[in-house]
Amino acid sequence: MKKVEIHPDAVERVKKFTINDTQLGFGKYMSPIMIQAIYANGEWQRFDLLPYAPLQLDPCSKVLHYGQEIFEGMKVFRHPDDSIHMFRPEMNARRFNQSARRMAMPEIPEDQFLEACEVICAYSKHLVPKRLGESLYLRPFMIATEVGMGIKPSNQFLFIIVASPSGSYFAGESVKVYIEREDIRCAPGGVGFAKTGGNYAASLNSYAKTIKLGCDQTMWLDSVEHKYIEEMSGMNFFAVIDGKIVTPALTDTILDGVTRRSIIDIATGEKLTVEQRRLSIDEVLKGVQDGSCTEAFMCGTAAVIAPVASFLDKDGQVYTLRDAQGKISMQLREKLIAIQAGRMDAPAGWVYPIRELSF
Ligand SMILES: Cc1ncc(COP(=O)(O)O)c(C=O)c1O
Repeated sequence: MKKVEIHPDAVERVKKFTINDTQLGFGKYMSPIMIQAIYANGEWQRFDLLPYAPLQLDPCSKVLHYGQEIFEGMKVFRHPDDSIHMFRPEMNARRFNQSARRMAMPEIPEDQFLEACEVICAYSKHLVPKRLGESLYLRPFMIATEVGMGIKPSNQFLFIIVASPSGSYFAGESVKVYIEREDIRCAPGGVGFAKTGGNYAASLNSYAKTIKLGCDQTMWLDSVEHKYIEEMSGMNFFAVIDGKIVTPALTDTILDGVTRRSIIDIATGEKLTVEQRRLSIDEVLKGVQDGSCTEAFMCGTAAVIAPVASFLDKDGQVYTLRDAQGKISMQLREKLIAIQAGRMDAPAGWVYPIRELSF
């Protein structure tokens, strides 16, 4: 594993940096430092902790034309004893490498990925917010930097981690969902399971439509039959039907969410029944109408759990959940937040303590 070189000007910058705002928002503030690693000649050359700064990229860098890019999103929480902990970062490290393989990009050894995350967290410790639901959001990403217009995998890459002290994304408000029945985002055999920018770019037109129609989130259906629920643009989906928690089974068109897995584990531990299977939009809408679907929610690192208030269909029909702040979704949300914040014992390996530094 390569040691992360610490640049003194980065340390000076972060030491002096404070935020005096109780409304942190999401991604509004950045820690003034970043990790940067360079890949060339078939290997990772070096890892540095640098001052946060704009990148200088050649206009013909492949990422700017062909979208060879991947990223991750994960959170660091302050526990009541003031120590700070990443939440299940090994899962992000593994998923980052899955994305890298699909996008013809180099993997980063998991221990190297975790070490780089730990260094930026350790130096940003005083920027990890204190209040329940707040966190330091980490955004590791990799871009193709080889210069040239040829459509082929890059042989040079930059890996960067930036960190943002953040509030909660939705703060538990319930969300109006627009069912996207026309556009598709990910096809079988494609890159849906990879966390790559193109998947999000493909969702933006529908996002604009979603907002125009007064909704908050777009729901994606499968691209073959336009019938089965896949996920939201940035979150996985769950419904509570006949008292059972149902979520679409993972396929290569769905992102394997860390929050989704954690919710399944917590719910199973609470002796709730969880089904991972094909879930059609008709089953959910019929369930909302006849009362068998009592709750629906979406989940992801940023929002944790956001309950669904209603679904809007293409024909304008609105299906309103009887109980938007559902009992089961709120119970799971509270438990997950308590585990993340160190207010409840975590299952083995879920919290990753960040070492103390004196600098
Ligand atoms: C498309 C998509 N699905 C699901 C998720 C939820 O994944 P996680 O719980 O790992 O944040 C995300 C967020 O990263 C996402 O972008």
